[in-house]
Amino acid sequence: MNTVEIIFSPTGGTEKIANIISACWSENITKIDLSDAKTDFSKCTIDKDDRILIAMPSFGGRAPFVAVRCYTSLTFKVFCAII
Ligand SMILES: Cc1cc2nc3c(=O)[nH]c(=O)nc-3n(C[C@H](O)[C@H](O)[C@H](O)COP(=O)(O)O)c2cc1C
Repeated sequence: MNTVEIIFSPTGGTEKIANIISACWSENITKIDLSDAKTDFSKCTIDKDDRILIAMPSFGGRAPFVAVRCYTSLTFKVFCAII
């Protein structure tokens, strides 16, 4: 099963933890970096068979606005999630 890491990690701490977790889940890891301004997130599709890890830091008790804005551009073909 492919694992898709959807991350936002400006200083690398969140990404480091996400990498450790997803390496336990699967050998096939695709990364979507929500802080990469060159990525067209509307072209990123997550298939229903993908396992997804979403990781971002808390800023002021909330998900970072820029990360959420990019995240909502992604296309999900999944039917359930474990939160
Ligand atoms: C402006 C700002 C606000 C923050 N607010 C919180 C917070 O509300 N709760 C928390 O646990 N950490 C907070 N932090 C700490 C970040 O979540 C922490 O630095 C995080 O590890 C950074 O992740 P990164 O290394 O992946 O970029 C805040 C950091 C900054 C710079």
